[in-house]
Amino acid sequence: MCGIVGYIGFREAYPILIKGLRRLEYRGYDSAGIALIDNNEELSVYKAKGRVSDLEESVKDKDINGTIGIAHTRWATHGEPSNANAHPHYSQSETIALIHNGIIENHAVLKTQLEEKGYKFQSSTDTEVLVQFIEYIKSLNNCDLFSAVQIALKQVVGAYAIAIIEKGNPDQIIAARKSSPLVIGIGEGEFFLGSDASPIIEYTNRVIYLNDEEIALIKRNEEPKIFTISNVEITHEIKELEMNLSELERGGFPHYMLKEIFEQPETLKNCMSGRINVEGTHITLSGIIDFKEKFINARRIIIIACGTSWHAGLIGEYLFEEFCRVPVEVEYASEFRYRNPVIYKDDVVIAISQSGETADSLAAIESARKAGAFVYGVCNVIGSSIPRNTDSGSYTHCGHEIGVASTKAFTAQVTVLTMMALAIAKEKGTVNNERYLSIIKELQNIPAKIKTILSHNDKIKELSLIFTYAQNFIYLGRGYSYPIALEGALKLKEISYIHAEGYPSAEMKHGPIALIDNEMPVVAIATNNTIYEKVVSNVQEIKARKGRIIAIINEGDEGIKELADHYIEVPSTLECLDPLLSCIPLQLLAYHIAVNKNRDVDMPRNLAKSVTVE
Ligand code: G6P
Repeated sequence: MCGIVGYIGFREAYPILIKGLRRLEYRGYDSAGIALIDNNEELSVYKAKGRVSDLEESVKDKDINGTIGIAHTRWATHGEPSNANAHPHYSQSETIALIHNGIIENHAVLKTQLEEKGYKFQSSTDTEVLVQFIEYIKSLNNCDLFSAVQIALKQVVGAYAIAIIEKGNPDQIIAARKSSPLVIGIGEGEFFLGSDASPIIEYTNRVIYLNDEEIALIKRNEEPKIFTISNVEITHEIKELEMNLSELERGGFPHYMLKEIFEQPETLKNCMSGRINVEGTHITLSGIIDFKEKFINARRIIIIACGTSWHAGLIGEYLFEEFCRVPVEVEYASEFRYRNPVIYKDDVVIAISQSGETADSLAAIESARKAGAFVYGVCNVIGSSIPRNTDSGSYTHCGHEIGVASTKAFTAQVTVLTMMALAIAKEKGTVNNERYLSIIKELQNIPAKIKTILSHNDKIKELSLIFTYAQNFIYLGRGYSYPIALEGALKLKEISYIHAEGYPSAEMKHGPIALIDNEMPVVAIATNNTIYEKVVSNVQEIKARKGRIIAIINEGDEGIKELADHYIEVPSTLECLDPLLSCIPLQLLAYHIAVNKNRDVDMPRNLAKSVTVE
């Protein structure tokens, strides 16, 4: 989703801003733009529909000097992707340029008021309304830009992260946020802005995270000053980033997605490290220790998430119910936030999010907290909004995930949920010691078993060629494999644009089986578990209707090999850990089919990595 970069310092701003935009490309966008103040204090804006390279092409013969600037990648919300709708937007007098991530909900009312006063608009965006409104407030109150921004933001309804520069004022950037992320990088004599730390990390690891309704005055050669929109000055802690630059590079892989799939043996080791003791006899999650009573006495667990994280949540439901014997509900954050749900004070709400910035998840957390529930975050991005707005939590520690289709973050989320379920079950006494120890032991074998699956990559690539023609796909699973069927289908949809549906296998006969013919590929997760025989019967039902079966099976399972048209073997493991293995071939299958179709795997159309608008 929209990306923001800013720079003020002693270097040329343009190359830093362009590089920053490239680092933010992974978030998903459809146009890009830049505003610079040159050495004559003139303000210029350049923008282009398409990729950052199109923007570079469009400024080829322009004067792009200057040591201050702001830049943006846009993911369309109001108005189609076009040059006119791309950011930055000028104010009417072209003296102010503004970039924005978020949605100004009362833009229509403000626009009508401004039009009545003679303001003309060049775009159909809510963002242009905001910059015009700021200019209007500035002239109405005869005040400086900073005060105008403060006054304007008080009247704005919606979400924003913004950065603003002004002609004739080459020494300041003004930045503000509400519900959309914004980070300030603190260098030596230079400052950076980013929607996240990825455009900043190359220059400094010292950052300030702005909080909601805070506005920063970033002046050349002065420490940034931060105020609330009601003008109360705030002292902010400078945080040290843990990310490193190599995490942001592709490391020899053709796509970030493939790199991230292959990183999983390592990322899961990192996720478990320090949490499972060296003897392999105990799990300690620091986020749970201080609040163990909350978990032990929980009336219910409610899991809220979106997208792939929601699928991890479904696996969490199976884990918590099996081991902790507590009722669990898994909710789409976007539904939960608007549905007036019943929330008890002794409910524990677990919010799962890779980015930690998903707008719907943040809003759902707010509702849960207002109702007095204890909220626990399971997030990947350190210092992001969800960890800062929850009572406690665990990081997934899988490193920066760039591919829009989530892979390593998903397996790390499932690993954290498994460790949580076991740690809580141990405290509650709902798991016996033998079982507890055997699961911890097997959890530690998972990285090596994933390596074995990754060694079948060439076979999966070959298989993908057979199915690249397909218009539709069905994925089936039962028990712990059902969420994996949903996740497998989502992976394929996201990056290959093939229509795919995930179903609990036994539901087929209530409708979807009507879709089966000799052209329909059906991916059946048929690993050996307590309902294996029933899964085999479901596969037989598909076979009888001539569906083309790709079965995910355990090594050496000869029976199912005969039924299936194709099969991919995975090592066997405990039933509750099976999702961590059976998802891997599905990630690879989706990846190869998308590559065969020449899709933009890391940046699929219309999708965003970090969904910061509702
Ligand atoms: C977007 C991403 C998905 C992700 C979902 C939830 O749709 O493309 O990969 O699963 O948002 O994001 P979160 O950061 O909250 O896990």
